[in-house]
Amino acid sequence: MTSLFEEVPVSIDGDIPTTRVEVKVNGERRAAEIEPRLLLAHLLRNGFKLTGTHTGCDTTNCGACTVLLDGEPVKSCTVFAVQANGHEVTTVEGLASSEQLHPVQEGFKDEHGLQCGFCTPGMMLSAVALLNENDNPTEDEVRWALSGNLCRCTGYQNIVKAVIWAGAKMRGEA
Ligand code: FES
Ligand code: FES
Repeated sequence: MTSLFEEVPVSIDGDIPTTRVEVKVNGERRAAEIEPRLLLAHLLRNGFKLTGTHTGCDTTNCGACTVLLDGEPVKSCTVFAVQANGHEVTTVEGLASSEQLHPVQEGFKDEHGLQCGFCTPGMMLSAVALLNENDNPTEDEVRWALSGNLCRCTGYQNIVKAVIWAGAKMRGEA
């Protein structure tokens, strides 16, 4: 696992006081000097250039900004970056290894679980959180786990199939 330490000033504007945060992101230690009001989604996208985390509504509705915070799915547009200080964040960029896609990514590919792809990173992180707890979920359990993530394209059917497929892969059955 790589370990980097990086200073990233984000959104420093005139006399607004700033604070330092340190976050382990996708296994790498990152640090930034930020305004306390900065949202985690904006630290990830604008500060750390991890633009796989999408922002759709900015109001906790769509789930496009979902990341894992210490393994739990959170909507990063609703979390202040300072709340992630000292914690671990996983974004979609952290799912694949250098050689292999995560089973959830393979599932979305194999089952055509996306069209425009805007919702996909958030969907994948919610799916990963589910499958880490339960790698053999029912369709209803998948739908419940993804109920905070909205998709405007697919009708959800193939997304559910993709997560079921990924569970089978994680169990060694796909
Ligand atoms: S951008 Fe965070 S829930 Fe929509
Ligand atoms: S694939 Fe377009 S919003 Fe889900």
